[in-house]
Amino acid sequence: MNRIRKHVYAAMAAAGMVAAMAACTPVNPADEPTRPSGGDSVPATPVVEGGRNEQYRPQVHFTPYKNWMNDPNGMVYYDGVYHLFYQYNPRGNDWGNMSWGHATSPDMIRWTEQPVALTHDELGDIFSGSAVIDKDNTAGFGKNAMVALYTSASGVQQQSLAYSTDGGKSFTRYGGNPVIHNDDDNLRDPKVFWHEESGKWVMALAKGWKMGIEFYTSPDLKNWTHASTFFRELQGRPSLQWECPDLIRFGERWVLLVSVNPGGPLLGSGTMYFVGDFDGTTFTADELDYPLWLDYGMDNYAGVTWSNTGERKVMIGWMNNWQYAGAVPCSPWRSAMTLPRELQLTEYNGKPILASTVVKEADGIAGEWKAAGSELDCEDAYQLRITIGLDKNSTIVLSNPFGEKYELNVTASSREIVCKRNASTGDTSFNGFFSVPSMRAPLNTEGERVTLDIFVDQSSVEVFTQNGSMAMTNLVFPKEMYNRLTVSGTEFEAKVRELKSIYK
Ligand code: FRU
Repeated sequence: MNRIRKHVYAAMAAAGMVAAMAACTPVNPADEPTRPSGGDSVPATPVVEGGRNEQYRPQVHFTPYKNWMNDPNGMVYYDGVYHLFYQYNPRGNDWGNMSWGHATSPDMIRWTEQPVALTHDELGDIFSGSAVIDKDNTAGFGKNAMVALYTSASGVQQQSLAYSTDGGKSFTRYGGNPVIHNDDDNLRDPKVFWHEESGKWVMALAKGWKMGIEFYTSPDLKNWTHASTFFRELQGRPSLQWECPDLIRFGERWVLLVSVNPGGPLLGSGTMYFVGDFDGTTFTADELDYPLWLDYGMDNYAGVTWSNTGERKVMIGWMNNWQYAGAVPCSPWRSAMTLPRELQLTEYNGKPILASTVVKEADGIAGEWKAAGSELDCEDAYQLRITIGLDKNSTIVLSNPFGEKYELNVTASSREIVCKRNASTGDTSFNGFFSVPSMRAPLNTEGERVTLDIFVDQSSVEVFTQNGSMAMTNLVFPKEMYNRLTVSGTEFEAKVRELKSIYK
């Protein structure tokens, strides 16, 4: 927890909210009446279409029209609609008043902001969590009810439930909340899925500063039994905060995503993964060299996958870092999500790799591919595809007419990309931690050439190897989007396609 947030929790505890929580815990949950979803009179976010042209406003990434956003929450696909809920402050551009904002999309690319879905109640603020479709009506809220499980946060962190029977338009809180009672402030971010073989729901919960993941199981989403604890020592990273887990199935194998803050690949926040087996109660990680990173950049945190998408596993992350998130120069909104990424468990050098590639639905906003010259000639955002030889070192430079530039150095001998973020990249003055002298990402590919997919928006650069074996996501704040290209070093081929604004 960063210093400010820690302070907030401490203040809540001091204000006696811990005692108030205990008093609220129902003796017999089943006897409690249900409550409507809004705990107070927080206004619904105005749903504004168009007009998102402020400096740095992403054109192909989801941002709320205004106010603060952090983690993606409650991601669920239902009836042709992708739902994205998210940590949201309905009252301002800083972290606070944590609620679930809501947006919907037919394709995970074009989003429509919806009214705020859940705001604080007597159990506390609404922290991160997930949503599932209860196809078999195990909870008794109705067949295909959308059931959201989230952390009720005050001086303590407990797990609560709310459900929707109108496809996510409105939620009713379960009267038996919290469904998992807890006495301390380090248990949060429930991610729930249905485990076919055991015929049970499984929940992964993060232990914050206490590190590790707790697994619970339930027949009905309301009654939960502790099943196991997962923890792994990470060399040289003693004081991490574990957050936002997701246990994802790939056929016979399982991958556990865990976001850590601090302790990411460079500084502040990052998302690691473990590969292993899961038997319905216990996750056992393979003996690999952990931590393995989902993304080698600074700005992909708290990412989890959509539920109810069958074999397809698509994640979206919060494109920011707790190290400086409160200071990034964006107004009236603060923070964007990453582009949605399809995850696949692949291999490189005999070892498993969790690969991520931007979803094919991005084609829906893409223009025709054309050869990339020195002027890229794109207005809103673009995808650049460069195939480059690995016989020599080479440098890919994206720049703008103000002389600001983002440089990717492809190092042939070590087969990695090295880049930096500093005053030459754009504005870094808002926070001392934003400049990063050197970030390194292994290409994780074979062969004499590598193909890179580079997605550039007004204030971000996301770099992937074409097969997804490496991802590197970074925020940047240039005066104008980089729209020039130079490549030096060895032979290459480059093409570009414009990505049209999702707001036009
Ligand atoms: C991760 C996180 C979660 C928590 C939420 C609060 O970024 O700290 O663990 O639920 O943010 O906004």
